[in-house]
Amino acid sequence: MNNDPLVQAAIDVRLRAYAPYSRFQVGAAVEMADGRIFAGCNVENAAYPEGTCAEAGAIAAMVAQGGRQIHRIVVCGGTDAPCTPCGGCRQKIREFAPPETPVTMVSAGGTVLLVRTLADLLPDSFGPDSLTRQRSGLG
Ligand code: THU
Repeated sequence: MNNDPLVQAAIDVRLRAYAPYSRFQVGAAVEMADGRIFAGCNVENAAYPEGTCAEAGAIAAMVAQGGRQIHRIVVCGGTDAPCTPCGGCRQKIREFAPPETPVTMVSAGGTVLLVRTLADLLPDSFGPDSLTRQRSGLG
């Protein structure tokens, strides 16, 4: 059990995941500094590479509502081993979250399995500020 509404959002949305191929349902929920929560689940496809991850869905839901800053994120997998975000999702999270952002992995029931910062998961990351550091080079 867990009283954290962000954890609950990830648990709830996981149950709506469309994962007929992997049979591996994932839910993710992001919280903004103002407390707004956005959730997403994985959505697979018969053309396998077209499937999308839960984290991508949650980020898209946030951006669609005008959100730009992730304060924390919870990922809920169906196993008792933590469902850590894939490499591509770590980079997607980085676009909207600073390196110190906590990423919490929970079980299907809401038990916290692992907490890492985004920097732990994606060290020395390339983020939006990295682009502004290049002064010249465009000719
Ligand atoms: N998946 C996610 O949605 N998020 C993760 O953090 C790891 C993996 C999905 C992708 C695919 O639909 C299924 O889980 C198995 O890889």
